[in-house]
Order: sequence, then C-alpha cells, then structure tokens
Amino acid sequence: MAHNLLKGKKGVIFGALDEHSIAWKVAERCHEEGAQLVLTNAPVAMRFGKINELAEKLNAQVIPADATELADLEKLFQESMKAMGGKIDFVLHSIGMSLNMRKGKTYTELNYEHMLKTMDISAISFHKMMQTLWNLDAMADHGSILALTYIAAQRVFPDYSEMADAKALLESFARSFGYHFGMRNKVRVNTVSQSPTMTTAGSGVKGFKEFFQYADKMSPLGNASGEACAEYCVTLFSDLTRSVTMQNLFHDGGFSNMGMNPAVLDLPRE
Ligand SMILES: NC(=O)c1ccc[n+]([C@@H]2O[C@H](COP(=O)([O-])OP(=O)(O)OC[C@H]3O[C@@H](n4cnc5c(N)ncnc54)[C@H](O)[C@@H]3O)[C@@H](O)[C@H]2O)c1
Repeated sequence: MAHNLLKGKKGVIFGALDEHSIAWKVAERCHEEGAQLVLTNAPVAMRFGKINELAEKLNAQVIPADATELADLEKLFQESMKAMGGKIDFVLHSIGMSLNMRKGKTYTELNYEHMLKTMDISAISFHKMMQTLWNLDAMADHGSILALTYIAAQRVFPDYSEMADAKALLESFARSFGYHFGMRNKVRVNTVSQSPTMTTAGSGVKGFKEFFQYADKMSPLGNASGEACAEYCVTLFSDLTRSVTMQNLFHDGGFSNMGMNPAVLDLPRE
C-alpha cells in the first residue's frame, strides 16, 4: 500500500543489477511512494544487468557511473539534477564487491592489491559519493543519504572475510560525514544493516544458503526480506525520520540482539 511518503522527492539509487538486488526493490518502492528517480550502476553492469528494464517501468533515467571514479560521480549528480529539475532529496549506496572473495582467497591469505580494490568499491565509494554531493552542493536541505551494510562490521562472521572490514569503514564514513552534512544543511546520513538476502552479491559469500537458514531461525522475526528492507529505506528517506542521523540501524528481524535461539538446535520452546 502506498502512502505518498516520497511525493515530490528526487532520488538517486546506486546498485540495481537485477530483480533480486536490494536497490531494485528500493527503487520500486520509492517510485510507488511518489519519488522521481535516477538509477545508476557501473558501466560494466549495464551489459550484464537489467537496469534498463527497471528504468522503463519506473520512468526513470539511467546514468552509468563507476562509483570509484570521481569524474563519473560528478557527471552523474550534475546530470541527475538537470534531469529531475533540482537538488537531490535522497541517495542510496547499495554497492559491494570483494575481489579476494571472488578469487577464492581466505582471510589469512588476502591479496592486498585486491583488498584495496574491495575497499575502494565497497566503502571509499561512499565517501567519494558524499564528497562529490558536498562539493556540488547537490543535496536538498533535510535530505537523506543511506548505505547498506552488514553486522559482520561489529561481530565476527569468518566467511564474510575482508567485506567485514570494508563495512566497518563504510559505517564510520556515515558517522563522520553525517556530522558535516547535518551541520551544513540538515542532511541525514545512516547505514541500514540488513539480514542475509538472496542476491548476486549475497550468494557470493561462502556457505551463504546454510547461513541464510541459520540466521532465519536465530531471528525472532525471521530474516528481513529485500522487500521489507525497501520499505524501511522509504521511511528513512521520508520526512518522518528527520532527526535520525549518524546511525547504524539494524534491519534484521532481531538477529543482532540474539545470543542463542533454541530453534537453531530444533529444541522445543518453553
Ligand atoms: N545480500 C545480502 O545478504 C546483504 C546483506 C546485507 C547488506 N548487503 C549489502 O547490500 C548492498 C547491495 O547488494 P545486493 O545484495 O543487493 O547485491 P547486488 O549484487 O544486486 O548489488 C551489488 C551492486 O554493486 C554494484 N557495483 C559493483 N561495483 C560497482 C562500482 N564500481 N560502481 C558502481 N556500482 C558497483 C553492482 O553492479 C551491483 O549492482 C551491498 O552493499 C551489500 O553488501 C547485502
């Protein structure tokens, strides 16, 4: 059900690759709530992904940008403001990739060239994105910036490998830049720490299917779905959350505060 929560707002959404992507679902939900959108992804994803299909459905413009390239980001935000006719109200960073994971390197044998690339794509791109928005003065007052993260930034999930460190950095950027954006024009910056979700990036993690089931049993509400994540992001882009900033917000069915759930061991409940 739509509530017009984003009526008249202009948003830029990074990271919709295919219909499984969290960003895809966020874009659909933002559109339903009345937002005008620009969709973006790395030029290489244009070839593999289905972003144009989504853009057609949502009447959105697609502007390719490698999120690690400052020149691409500058062009993206300038063109976005032109296409939507004004400053940007909200931005979603939904980008993650581990080169070491892709190459099958475990945490104790990381290649540092790959690690630098992982950090650049998965974390520093968030700072680059915010610094570009800052320099262009592209964010509307009371705007909202969000990035997606995972609890491995705080607790050890061995198979998440170097992505855990990338997410810790990403969450720190939200706090640090949140200060500056808040002081200058009341823009909020937060991260949403989402449950495991069946997507291209998610299923790149070793043992993902088994872990997905474990997390589902551990969480009193079960794993939060990609659709539910989209709804949560809508609230954070809306005017209903104007005083929430510099936070890492768990959207995980309660997983982050659990120690043990008897359901995991198939024990009967008290
Ligand atoms: N799937 C999960 O279990 C899960 C859980 C918590 C958080 N997250 C986070 O959610 C976000 C979205 O991932 P997803 O699960 O929807 O997977 P996904 O594979 O659909 O999305 C990842 C996106 O990153 C984009 N990307 C990679 N390199 C890029 C670059 N250089 N420039 C611009 N874009 C680039 C990809 O093209 C892709 O669209 C990521 O930050 C991920 O870490 C995912």
